[in-house]
Amino acid sequence: MSTSKLATTIPVARRVNAFSYAIRNIVVEAQRVEAAGTRVRYLNVGDPNAFGFKTPPHLITAVERAMRDGHNGYGPSPGIAAAREAVAAELTSHGFPITADRALITAGTSEAIDLVLGALVDAGGEVLVPMPTYPLYTAVLAKLDARARYYRTDPNRGWQPDLDHLKSLVTRDTRALVVIDPNNPTGATYPTSTRRELLEFAERHNLVILADEVYGDLGHDGPIDPIGKLDPDAAIITFSSLSKAYLAPGWRTGWMGVGRSPRLDPALAAIKKMADGRLCSTVPMQYAVAEALHGDRSHQPIFRAELKTRAAITVESLTAMPGMSCVAPIAGFYVMPKLALPRGRTDEDYVLGLLRATGVLCVYGSGFGMPPEDGCFRIVFLASPEELTAIYKLMADSTTDYLARG
Ligand SMILES: Cc1ncc(COP(=O)(O)O)c(C=O)c1O
Repeated sequence: MSTSKLATTIPVARRVNAFSYAIRNIVVEAQRVEAAGTRVRYLNVGDPNAFGFKTPPHLITAVERAMRDGHNGYGPSPGIAAAREAVAAELTSHGFPITADRALITAGTSEAIDLVLGALVDAGGEVLVPMPTYPLYTAVLAKLDARARYYRTDPNRGWQPDLDHLKSLVTRDTRALVVIDPNNPTGATYPTSTRRELLEFAERHNLVILADEVYGDLGHDGPIDPIGKLDPDAAIITFSSLSKAYLAPGWRTGWMGVGRSPRLDPALAAIKKMADGRLCSTVPMQYAVAEALHGDRSHQPIFRAELKTRAAITVESLTAMPGMSCVAPIAGFYVMPKLALPRGRTDEDYVLGLLRATGVLCVYGSGFGMPPEDGCFRIVFLASPEELTAIYKLMADSTTDYLARG
């Protein structure tokens, strides 16, 4: 029986308003532009496979074999032993020694972030996140009714963290410090001196460092050490995944390594308890983790060289555009340029204008926590050099017009 006369729409939770992920949200507008007949070049999502980079075949074989061998049931909630051991060995070989019982396999780094913040931060708790940030941190904190406190990173100093600003943000409620190094969206990595200061700061305030090291293998001149190498006894939880450096983002397979410090034992237990609730991450893909970390990595130097070439084209093209400046990325496949905006304009206004005029889709800086009037936006530079050159030509013309309109 219908009660349609009384019924109204089903209400949604208030927290949805605070949950925002601009990288995907902006696609709605891109689809409109596409429907109107313009070809859209999607430079919004950092997915190497979407630009023709291929998952290494031995990893595909490992997953295929796992499925054929019948590994299609649930697995242990922290992950299969072989994968956990491989993660522990990998981190240990990079100077952050942990045992396999402190490694957990997750549905990408994304799930690791969700599990860790859920396990460590109460409603009302605060977490220090970089500005600009990878937006999942702020989105998950919104879901928890917790609060992101943004610490500035400075484009005038190669997007290094502003440590004085960071220090000014600590309160009784601060629970964790997020360090994204190498960084998305800026492409920066931090020197040892900065890393030491971050470690000392966290130690002084009894904060856990959430070290997002997804791009650690994608320094353009070679792998970048984890921050934990500087102090293996610090309270650090490090994240990475198969998504970027192993070219398999759709597998949703990642991991976290919880530092060996006994100060982290309750956190480890809490994270494991939360992980029990989602049963396990995708099991067949877990069989690729040991293959990835112990096996042939010859795709990585090739990928790094491809990124370095694209970064150079990107910087050269952007810096030649009127009003545009950018810090050269030294890792990963993102850059965050800054356009000197006409008065009263916002980053979103520029990015939507660019999309409508050219079909080039970037993400506005305010989606990463930047002030809208700063004129920052993020480009994913994974497209081929030829395509990038064509894209930057479109962007240069459109930007000239945009600035001329005022
Ligand atoms: C800094 C950072 N952390 C985490 C993630 C999520 O990655 P995953 O695919 O491992 O969930 C990304 C993806 O772009 C990222 O850039």
